[in-house]
Amino acid sequence: MPATFAGKGNAQTLVITLKDALLGLRVELRYSVFEDSDALVRSVAAVNEGTDRLYLEKILSASLDMDNEEFDLITLHGSWARERHITSRKVTEGKHIVSSLRGETSHQVQPFMALATNGTDQRQGTVYAMNLIYSGNFIAETELDYQESVRMSVGLHPDGFEWVLEPGGRFETPEAVLICSDGGLGQMTRTFHKLYQNHLIRSKYLHSKRPILINNWEATYFDFDDEKLVAIAKEAKKLGIEMLVMDDGWFGKRNDDSCALGDWQVNRDKIKGGLKSLVDRVNAEGLKFGIWFEPEMICPDSDLYREHPDWAVQVPGRVAGTMRNQYVLDLTRQEIVDYAYECVAQILRSANIAYVKWDMNRQLTDLGSFALDSAHMGEFSHRYVLGVYQMQERLLTEFPDLLLENCSGGGGRFDAGMLYYSPQIWTSDDMDPVERLLIQEGTALLYPLSTMGAHVCVCPNHSVGRVTPMETRAHVALAGTFGYELDITKLSGEEKEKAAAYNREYHRYNDLVREGTYYRIASYRENGMYDCWEVVDEEKREALVTYVQVRFEPVRKSRRLKLEGLEEKARYCLEETGETYTGEMLMQAGFLQEMIFGDYGSRLLHFVRI
Ligand code: DGJ
Repeated sequence: MPATFAGKGNAQTLVITLKDALLGLRVELRYSVFEDSDALVRSVAAVNEGTDRLYLEKILSASLDMDNEEFDLITLHGSWARERHITSRKVTEGKHIVSSLRGETSHQVQPFMALATNGTDQRQGTVYAMNLIYSGNFIAETELDYQESVRMSVGLHPDGFEWVLEPGGRFETPEAVLICSDGGLGQMTRTFHKLYQNHLIRSKYLHSKRPILINNWEATYFDFDDEKLVAIAKEAKKLGIEMLVMDDGWFGKRNDDSCALGDWQVNRDKIKGGLKSLVDRVNAEGLKFGIWFEPEMICPDSDLYREHPDWAVQVPGRVAGTMRNQYVLDLTRQEIVDYAYECVAQILRSANIAYVKWDMNRQLTDLGSFALDSAHMGEFSHRYVLGVYQMQERLLTEFPDLLLENCSGGGGRFDAGMLYYSPQIWTSDDMDPVERLLIQEGTALLYPLSTMGAHVCVCPNHSVGRVTPMETRAHVALAGTFGYELDITKLSGEEKEKAAAYNREYHRYNDLVREGTYYRIASYRENGMYDCWEVVDEEKREALVTYVQVRFEPVRKSRRLKLEGLEEKARYCLEETGETYTGEMLMQAGFLQEMIFGDYGSRLLHFVRI
């Protein structure tokens, strides 16, 4: 199971042991605190010390009782292409529940809940928040009862869950992160970010610039071959792009999404010289090579399914439903985990592959397995997630230099569990910069900017059809890992020059964006007009402010933006204009950002201490 960690002496864990003599059950409540973080991590273990079999039907990771303080409840909701929008409403009598029973975290909701006192904003107010380090079915619940008492809890979803605890058996819950901020939502966010950066994301790439990548998905969809990919690589190299990622469609007979998941042999009609030759050619152009997999899936129209129809998740004896023409592999079975792992590993062993995009394009339904008897069926969903974790653990052990990016039909598995394995996660299939403002604001409420997969998309955008300036698409993508998802060979000369300039900006600013402290200055979600965020380095020597003006407002000449996190007495120069300000001025009075004529304009503003 993914879990927080710390160096020796940097964390302490209090374990409270409870015993139920009648049942022979021991329960350990674990509370971990960290020297450098105001977060508390809570988990539970149940151990059967008796002689009878026990059935665990509900075991949450954390539960907190407190007085009601006129709380607002903040959660993250959405769907495909609009993941993690921030939602807020009053806590009223009764239960407020957010949950997933989709076998994964889901596009629809996050395992996160925050209670904020009345009037809380980015800078002030008390916030109590919980986030679960887990990638499967969960429940987060708040209940206001008749005595004005509030209970907030989070953990594995009890519906359909039943774990058989044999004598001597032990069950561990996922960890829940608990944060109390008395400095508003901003402080809550920064506590989550630092905790995940210092104590959860273990990738060796966490503190490095990730290669600027170009992914061929929206450039070609399934219609590509090795020549097309090499042509993209050649052009990409000229502009300063550093890695080519070959997306879906390189294996089996996969020319559309109707077949072949499970048949992980290179399609020689497309990749004519074989994978190694393609990778070598791309490397020879000076680019790293990355590859897409969807290892958890099996299409009914695949050689794998024809050989092993019982490997698909299904209720034995019933007809299972497909989604995107695919079933899910039964990863509760060790032999299937081993097989699926080997499929990925063999490909990685065969060529110089630097990066894997691990996709998952359908949620789990028709829950059943040929290997679990009815007494153990309640273990299915959790065992599935453990199968995924095991595969990713093995992958990183065998290929320690691999850069892994998780993905699920866009951002359906953006969660703290996955961050333990991959330092970055594909945030959403929707790369339209306006949609991304909402998606990235919600994602960054919990997760560091360095984890958000963000690319410059083709225009008009494929998800919403919106036409936006390339500059704005780039500025929004620079808030994440940065890359491109378009056919670079089709850009005009002017667009290519711009791309080269954005790549230079990435190299200039990524250390700051990746390692700096994040402040949300204004929210398009709240004001309907513009969005603004800021990143400041630890020594407060520089700040990068990104301003996106979604709508032009006639008559209004400028917007006042008040910054945060600067040194009051220090002087800062705004590089773009040469104007200087004290930190105090920028934070108390703000600076005036002039209206940009037309919709969807944006600016990057770099303040440097002088
Ligand atoms: C969903 C992902 O989010 C996309 O980026 C792409 O990889 C497709 N799957 C491929 O099927």
